[in-house]
Amino acid sequence: MEIQDLKEGKTSIGELISIAKDVMKNAYVPYSNFKVGAALLTKSGKVYTGVNIENSSFGLTNCAERTAIFKAISEGEREFETLVVVADTEEPVSPCGACRQVMSEFGDFEVVLTNLKGDIIQTSVNQLLPYSFDKDDLKK
Ligand code: THU
Repeated sequence: MEIQDLKEGKTSIGELISIAKDVMKNAYVPYSNFKVGAALLTKSGKVYTGVNIENSSFGLTNCAERTAIFKAISEGEREFETLVVVADTEEPVSPCGACRQVMSEFGDFEVVLTNLKGDIIQTSVNQLLPYSFDKDDLKK
C-alpha cells in the first residue's frame, strides 16, 4: 500500500506509524506483556501519543487508543484527523469496543490499524462502530 501524506504541512501516515511504533516501548504491560502504541493527529496538526497502561485490578487497564485520546482532550483538542494504532500482531491490531465507543464521541475520523510487519488497514470510526450510540441519542 502506498503511504501518502494527508495534507501538506501535516504529519504523514508514515510518520504517525513510526511515532506509534516508537512509543510502544513505554507501554506499561506487566501482566500481558502485549505492547500497543498509538499516535493521534489532531486537526490543529499536533500529535498525541498513547500506550496501554495495565493495572493489577485488570479491568482498570487503559488501552493505547484511549490514552492518546484522553491526553489530547485534556490539552483542549476536540477534532481529530487520524489515529494510528500498532502492536506486534499477526494481523493489524484491532481496537476494543470501549475504544471504538470513545473514538465515536469525537466524530468520524480516519483510523489506521497496523502491525510491526507493516500490514495496514485504513478505516474510519464509523466503519469500526456502525450504528453507534452517540450524543444525539440522548435527545428526546
Ligand atoms: N490493548 C490496547 O491497548 N489496544 C488495543 O487495540 C487492543 C488491546 C491492550 C489492553 C491490554 O493492555 C493488552 O492490550 C491486552 O489486551
